[in-house]
This record gives sequence, structure tokens and C-alpha cells, in this order.
Amino acid sequence: MLQIESICRDYTRGRSVIHALHPTSIEVGQGEFIAIVGPSGSGKSTLLSMIGGMLSPTSGRVILDGKSLYEINVKQRSRLRNEQIGFLFQSFNLVPYLSAVENVQLPMALYGGDRVKQAKEARHLLERFGLGERLEHKPAELSAGQQQRVAMARTLAMGPNLILADEPTGNLDPESRDLVLRTMHELCNEGRTIILVTHDETVSSSAQRIFHITEGHTTETTPDQNRDAA
Ligand SMILES: Nc1ncnc2c1ncn2[C@@H]1O[C@H](COP(=O)(O)OP(=O)(O)OP(=O)(O)O)[C@@H](O)[C@H]1O
Ligand SMILES: [Mg+2]
Repeated sequence: MLQIESICRDYTRGRSVIHALHPTSIEVGQGEFIAIVGPSGSGKSTLLSMIGGMLSPTSGRVILDGKSLYEINVKQRSRLRNEQIGFLFQSFNLVPYLSAVENVQLPMALYGGDRVKQAKEARHLLERFGLGERLEHKPAELSAGQQQRVAMARTLAMGPNLILADEPTGNLDPESRDLVLRTMHELCNEGRTIILVTHDETVSSSAQRIFHITEGHTTETTPDQNRDAA
């Protein structure tokens, strides 16, 4: 479903160039659960942003369902992103002045359509995550774990095939972390593809495939190899 073909990324600041990610190729099948691990500054978010159509590679291609993400125009790319890819971040990225239900409705509302139906769908998603009593709360009126549950509901609003999560459990207590992880596995069992950046061993060890990034160099290890090394 996803081909990452020799993508690399340099950042240029003034006269200096940072090689944030060296050429990386990954072939991802539908329904795979992939973890990306590595030290701070090693290039994990850079890789994830390029996979998500948010950052163009210095060279190489990202092909999602047969479409080369950076060879289509900006409008086509943002449409593809909205329809196929769900994002989840450590900092939740909720809109502060919107209620929980409005936040979840947002990706659907961008398309116009029946607001009443969309609000109902958003309420269902929030109920799925146990937030039926918090529909009208603003993000600041919710705990961190609750905010991440709102973010998960929003991620699911468009029924994405591919879910990209950048350290989604980083700000959470163990119980909320387990819920996020459980949900990611449920989504994977439904046939969705998960690519998740994490520092958390508990999270990465449950993945089917693990990619280690060190100073922009990517290598794949199997979860078994990681357990042996520990
Ligand atoms: N916009 C930018 N301009 C210049 N350099 C950048 C930019 N974004 C990232 N970098 C550099 O690229 C490298 C990789 O950054 P990246 O954010 O991908 O790391 P990361 O592995 O996600 O780290 P962390 O675990 O801390 O989130 C770092 O050295 C960083 O300083
Ligand atoms: Mg990062």
C-alpha cells in the first residue's frame, strides 16, 4: 500500500546543511504495524512527515496506493492526506476554542455536507472512547489522556487507511498509554496500517516491524532481535 523509495532530506540553514535523513527505502503492506525508534534528533519526525505528505523529500519518492505523493499538485495531495491518512501527535494538536465534538467533526466539515449527520458521527466516535459525557468540553477542560482520546476520535473521522503517530503516548500516564496502544492494535486488526514513532519500549515491542534510526540512517530489526538484545 505504501512504497518509500530512497527518500532523503536535507535541511539548509544559511551555509550549513543538515543531512537529517539519509536515503531510506521501506515497503509497507496493508495492515502492518510498524514502529520507528531512535534517539532525539535522529530523523524520526522528518521521515514521518515525508510519509504523510507534509514535507517534500530532497530526493526519492513516496507512493501511496499507486500515487506518488510529491508528483501530484498541492490540492490533490491535501485531499489524499485528508481522505487516506490519519495523524496523531504527542501534543494532540486539538483546536483550543472548539469543543470535543467540534474537533472531531472538523475533518468531515472541511468537505461541506450534512452537519447534523457529521455531528452524530463525531458523538459516536467520542462515545467509543468513553467521552460521551465530555462532548462539549474544550481541550483545556480535559485531562491529557482525554485529549488524546479526542485526537484519536478525530483521527478516525475520515476512516483513514494509514495512521501516522508521532510519539502519541509521550505525554500520557500508563493507563492512557495502554488505551492508545490497544486502540492502535484494534485499528491494525481492522486492516489499517500503523506507523508509529516512539521512545517507549512497551509500545515498540508490540510492533510487527521495527525501524531504528541513528543519525539519519535507518535499519530494520525484528521485534525478536530487540528482545534478544535487551
Ligand atoms: N526545519 C528544520 N530546519 C533545520 N533543521 C531541522 C529542521 N527540522 C529538523 N531539523 C534537524 O533535523 C534532524 C532530525 O530532526 P527530527 O525532528 O526528524 O528528529 P526526531 O528523531 O524526530 O527527534 P525527537 O525524538 O527529538 O522528536 C535534527 O538534527 C534537527 O535539528
Ligand atoms: Mg520528533
